[in-house]
Amino acid sequence: MRRDFMNTLARTNPFATRGENERKVLQRDPNPHIFRPLALRSMTTRNRIVLSPMCQYSAADGVPNDWHFQHLASRAVGGVGIVFTEVTHVEPRGRITPGCLGLWNDEQRDAFARITRFIKAQGALAGIQIGHAGRKASTAVSWDGGKPLTREMGGWEVIAPSAIPFADGHLLPMEMDRKTINDTLALFAANTRRAHQAGFDVVEIHAAHGYLIHQFLSPLSNRRSDRYGGSFENRIRFLLEAVDAVRSEWPERLPLFVRISATDWIEGGWDLRASVQLAQVLKAGGKVDLIDCSSGALSPTQKLTVHPGYQVPFAAEIRSRADIATGAVGLIQSADMAEQIVANGQADLIFLGRAMLGEPYWPLQAARTLRARLPWSRQYERGDIY
Ligand SMILES: Cc1cc2nc3c(=O)[nH]c(=O)nc-3n(C[C@H](O)[C@H](O)[C@H](O)COP(=O)(O)O)c2cc1C
Repeated sequence: MRRDFMNTLARTNPFATRGENERKVLQRDPNPHIFRPLALRSMTTRNRIVLSPMCQYSAADGVPNDWHFQHLASRAVGGVGIVFTEVTHVEPRGRITPGCLGLWNDEQRDAFARITRFIKAQGALAGIQIGHAGRKASTAVSWDGGKPLTREMGGWEVIAPSAIPFADGHLLPMEMDRKTINDTLALFAANTRRAHQAGFDVVEIHAAHGYLIHQFLSPLSNRRSDRYGGSFENRIRFLLEAVDAVRSEWPERLPLFVRISATDWIEGGWDLRASVQLAQVLKAGGKVDLIDCSSGALSPTQKLTVHPGYQVPFAAEIRSRADIATGAVGLIQSADMAEQIVANGQADLIFLGRAMLGEPYWPLQAARTLRARLPWSRQYERGDIY
């Protein structure tokens, strides 16, 4: 009888389970991997959490405004290590939508300078993603349906390595001749020069998601017969030249990342093997510091099923086979999962997109979950009471 009573007590007594919880807490690393700094050339990110680039479709003439300020500033206050802008385009016709950002003039540069000053004052690094949408340019913003915009609808002519549209009903791109290729590379350099003047600490070249550079990489979108098409070496040439163009204006002491789609998710397309090979070439070149491993979006014919952490194996494989730092991205939502990825050596940085839209203070919350301490901004310290 008494034993039954004790068993019931053990089952219902909250202190019985607290002991288990305490054991779990004791097993947690007191210095979680995601909160450890990472040295990147002369810069050090205070932790491994990165705001992934996310288009806000809210610019006029490519100029960042108060919306962009709050989007980036609040994540810096939230404890992020590197705050990345959405993709900024190197020329007006390279924009995905009329609401996208650019860095082709000094007005845009000066508006970014206000944002980088604030981000850096919070202790985060200011990162900028630069790119060109190629054949995926000239579309309506997502909340207007995201459909291709013809000239009559306010759209513009689009360019690509080959005259192959993204899909039926999309704009037929103009095939880039040698002059257009060289001019575009010069635009990447000019964009980078302004990024430096605006005070950014990290540049990421957008070579993923079916945009211009990815269009050169994939045999499905690149049918050229010159030195920019055909073999693997030829298809990666435009990216390598973009890396050179960016590095020519980006100080050696500052880190440079490249975001790739590690696979097209299409038979006969760009795949993980090619990505590993590319990462090895970039590593050997010594100009790129980290590969940010995303995937897909070259074509609507892609076939994939997504699940939490579905792109992490790409980051892990590239990291181990090319011996280069990687970023993992894609449906990473919990602090425990992020921690495991870094602790297991699958990636060096965790890029968070949608989770950070819902929770700009994700790092501060993750610290609570992992029972670690992250410094809050002085103005908000009195909120750190739970
Ligand atoms: C609204 C939105 C805009 C995005 N814009 C960009 C972008 O500008 N550049 C980019 O490389 N990826 C972009 N992405 C992809 C994210 O950076 C990220 O890779 C993707 O959302 C998967 O990560 P998540 O599951 O943490 O959101 C965007 C995603 C969203 C949701």
